[in-house]
Parts: sequence; C-alpha cells; structure tokens
Amino acid sequence: MTYPVPIIYDGDPGHDDAIAMLLAKASDNIDVLAVTTCCGNQTIEKTTYNAQRVCTLIGLDVPIGMGQARPLLAQPMTAPNIHGQSGLDGPRLPEPEVGLSSLRAVALMAKTLQEAERPVTIVSTGPLTNTAALLLTHPELKAKIERISLMGGGIAHGNWTPAAEFNILVDPEAADIVFSSGIPIVMAGLDVTEQALIYEEDFDRIRALGGEIARVVAEWLDYFYQFHRSIGYIGAPLHDPCAVAYLIAPELFEFQDYYVRIDTHGEFTRGATVADINRQTGIAPNARCLTGIDRQGFVDLLAESVRRLSHG
Ligand code: RIB
Ligand code: CA
Repeated sequence: MTYPVPIIYDGDPGHDDAIAMLLAKASDNIDVLAVTTCCGNQTIEKTTYNAQRVCTLIGLDVPIGMGQARPLLAQPMTAPNIHGQSGLDGPRLPEPEVGLSSLRAVALMAKTLQEAERPVTIVSTGPLTNTAALLLTHPELKAKIERISLMGGGIAHGNWTPAAEFNILVDPEAADIVFSSGIPIVMAGLDVTEQALIYEEDFDRIRALGGEIARVVAEWLDYFYQFHRSIGYIGAPLHDPCAVAYLIAPELFEFQDYYVRIDTHGEFTRGATVADINRQTGIAPNARCLTGIDRQGFVDLLAESVRRLSHG
C-alpha cells in the first residue's frame, strides 16, 4: 500500500514557486499539510499574500504560516527584477479566500510535525530560513522530518553570483544548518533546474487546455520566459517545480549522492554549495543532487497537473 507523501510546502512565491505548489496540489502522490512562506523573491508580506492568492486559485485550503521578515543573519535581499514588484507580476489573481494561520511559519511547521501520523517531507523552494529556525528551536522534531526536498544551490555554478544560487545566497547560515542537520536532502540545484526549460510551445499547449488556471499558468510561464530570454536563456528554467516533481515522478531525474557543504565566509564564494564530487573529504553524502531530467516528461507532468486541476 503506497500512501501519498505528506509535505509542508515552504516557499517565496514567486512564479516558479506558484507552479510548484500547483504540481503538489494536483498530485495524488502528495498530501499538502501546510504552507509556510519566506522572504526571498519579495518581502515576507508580498510572498505571503501571493501564497494566499495561489492557494485560492488552485483550491489548496490548508493553513498558511507567515515566515520571518529577514534571514537568520544576512540582510534581506529580494528579486523584483525577476518576479516583479508584487513578486508574482503578470496575470491578475483572485483575492485571497484562504486565510492566514494564527501561527507563524515555524510554529505551524512544529504543530504540523507534532500532529503528523507519519514523518513529513519538507519541500523548500525559497531561502531555508524557516526550516533552519525550526531545526534550531525544535530539535526534538527532527525525527518527524523524513527528508527535505529543496530547490537551491548549484554544483557547477551560481545564478546570483558566479558561485551562489539565489535561495542559498539569501540565507547561507540557514542553508548550512539544514545541510549539516543529518536529515536526508534532495537538492534540486541549477545543475538540473536549468535543464528544466520551458519553451513557447509548452505554455501554448497549457493555455490550450482552457480555463482560468491554464490561462494563469501560461501567463506565469510566458512572463518567466520573457525575462529569461532577455538575459540570454533559450527557455524558462522551471527551478522550484523540480523539487516537487522528484517526489511525484523520481524516474524523470538522474542524480548523484554527494556530501555538500555551504560556504558561509567566502569573499567571492559565500552561498556556494560545495559538493564533494570526487569524494575527497571521506565524509558520507548528505544530499541527493539531481543532475539530469527528462524534460519532455517534466512538461507532460506540468500539463497533466494543470488539466487535472482545471477539468478534474
Ligand atoms: O534561483 C532560483 C530560485 O530563486 C527559485 O526558487 C526562484 O523562485 C527564486 O526564489
Ligand atoms: Ca522560489
């Protein structure tokens, strides 16, 4: 008997976060217990408002916990150049019908873990501030966390600096706490997410499914595509959905298990995910690093997810 994977979804919506949330909601293999928000793509107020609007659009009626207003130590940084002033620019979205929990993110994560019948997977598609704060304040709940499937990092390169990917760079101290926690990690880094490219024919296919959700998703993809084309990409790299798609269809991915540690002090490399690919440290792997993807299968999963939410 296989059970759906219970997850806590932690993110900074964000266009690709929103699509990742949709994949999770649409899948019979996933049971979303709660949503928590973090500051990253935009301020915590904006990412939280966006999370409420996305949950309303996709019919995800679960507790939403507002996260921290800033990283553990670093100064806040946002990405309006990518996701816009709202953090989710582009199509008009419904006003929230899914309210905010009275609990903030970490307290909601803790309550969800305490009440869970089985260990829970944390899906993180933003900076790891909330997850790190949870581990610092509730070490007794580590046993209730089955694994952390995260979008972040990059073995070969960064995207915000030459060495660092945005989610890790926003809060490197949090990432260090998470990667050294001993909890199994699935790392959907740039190595795989920049292969998860979406092209115009893909979002035209989704738009043709018809209905509000299909229209909004197509417009999110088009918005994301136009930005990335403007900076030299040939398609839109769907970063965050990779962290969810692995839980739904791991057969779509190639991976290597590596020991990964976070550089928190480098003058030029702060926020880098340094993977021991030649096994020089003698330290056992702590992360399943996704390194390849069946792009067409990934796009098919996205299209099927939109179809399911739109037309049952
Ligand atoms: O570097 C890509 C990551 O940064 C994605 O999670 C995107 O949403 C932004 O948060
Ligand atoms: Ca994100």
